[in-house]
Amino acid sequence: MAEALRVGIAGLGTVGASVARVLADKAAELTRQCGRDLVVTAVSARSRGRDRGVDLGKAQWFDDPAELARKADIDVFVELIGGEDGPALEGVKAALEAGRHVVTANKALLARHGVALAEIAEKKGVLLNYEAAVAGGIPVIKTMREAMAGNSVTRVFGILNGTCNYILTRMEAEGLSFDACLKEAQRLGYAEADPTFDIEGHDTAHKLSILTSLAFGSRIAADDIYLEGISNITQADIRAAGELGYRIKLLGVAQKTESGIEQRVHPTMVPTSSVIAQVHGVTNAVAIETDILGELLLSGPGAGGNATASAVVGDIADIAKSRPGFQHGPVFGRPARELRPYKKAQMRSHAGGYFIRLTVHDRIGVFAAIAKRMADNEISLESIVQHSAGPEAGSQKTVVLVTHETTEAAVRKAVEGITKDGHLTDKPQVIRIERAE
Ligand SMILES: NC(=O)c1ccc[n+]([C@@H]2O[C@H](COP(=O)([O-])OP(=O)(O)OC[C@H]3O[C@@H](n4cnc5c(N)ncnc54)[C@H](OP(=O)(O)O)[C@@H]3O)[C@@H](O)[C@H]2O)c1
Repeated sequence: MAEALRVGIAGLGTVGASVARVLADKAAELTRQCGRDLVVTAVSARSRGRDRGVDLGKAQWFDDPAELARKADIDVFVELIGGEDGPALEGVKAALEAGRHVVTANKALLARHGVALAEIAEKKGVLLNYEAAVAGGIPVIKTMREAMAGNSVTRVFGILNGTCNYILTRMEAEGLSFDACLKEAQRLGYAEADPTFDIEGHDTAHKLSILTSLAFGSRIAADDIYLEGISNITQADIRAAGELGYRIKLLGVAQKTESGIEQRVHPTMVPTSSVIAQVHGVTNAVAIETDILGELLLSGPGAGGNATASAVVGDIADIAKSRPGFQHGPVFGRPARELRPYKKAQMRSHAGGYFIRLTVHDRIGVFAAIAKRMADNEISLESIVQHSAGPEAGSQKTVVLVTHETTEAAVRKAVEGITKDGHLTDKPQVIRIERAE
């Protein structure tokens, strides 16, 4: 049998401790699959004394992850610390430069430094595997990196944050407010004490930036993503969406257009009958559209110790099975030097349908004024419905418009005009509609 693969794990928290447990509990099975043992020979975390639920007594302890990466007797450095800089970056860089394979679950690190790290990995002829960084346990990186050669991707989109999907699912199922559902998500451990990173879309954006690079062969551009979170979604939006045959999801979407690549994260209306609309709770899903394959949808657990560990262990096993001296595939599906500069499409030129919900004074002429602003901006309407704004509303009405395909610029101009007309009693709500099968 080949020599054991020596694994160093930096970070023994939710994911790191689960990885160590899976490697121990499934040791015999992994040895059969890989043709060699997978042994944890070194570990690093902040607190040495903490019980990790697995015996790591035989592994050498390092206080400093970068020192582990450079000096430990390891073949693979597994980074499960988190954070875009600091010890995670130092450790990964040190490992690659020392000619060691790296496995990481860290989307923030890759969104910021992925291309530079890929260049080092490819120069040194080692693997940089990161399946767990996008959509947790779903094997989307492997699918895009290895199984789609020759396909040209036209669009990739998905539900990439379980916290947001949980909140939106509960809001719809139980008629509860955003705040009530967020509190419940925090109580159940699905949301952090400070949930900003998740609910305002930053986590989705990090993951989307990695998928965009794999899909379109462009350099990662995490700062160039149009971002809107879900904190202003109300019960009125959820109900109106349902009545119109839509469901609201926070989607990350990357799409090739004539003017460049659109990368956007925002609440989105998808048809209730579409497959992605059936993805509920903390589950994630990624849809990939290509010219040869058509549409592929992968769905499954996007977070949690075990699901994430499954992807990390899969990455480690791939390294164990790789043949010594064999040229490894490039990190982002093509050599890092071939990744093209990212050409951003302007959000104003985004084309699609729109849902617009307006709360207006209940007086003569308002409806006609709204219709005129739409017509002036060449927006054709699929529907326009007027409701009483509810029992407390007094002399207010809600007007819900659904447009045919138009542009973001036209919608913004029309809504600006309606606001100037002085008919609104509340902030207008605009939600983009996404085509989905
Ligand atoms: N949790 C998930 O469901 C999930 C899903 C997908 C991807 N990920 C990614 O996986 C990574 C790890 O996430 P996690 O949830 O496991 O985080 P976590 O529970 O906070 O664990 C972080 C670990 O890093 C250790 N650490 C922090 N600073 C360190 C330092 N300076 N030196 C050495 N060790 C240090 C901590 O040590 P102590 O334990 O001693 O404090 C802890 O063991 C992140 O990149 C995250 O984005 C997580």
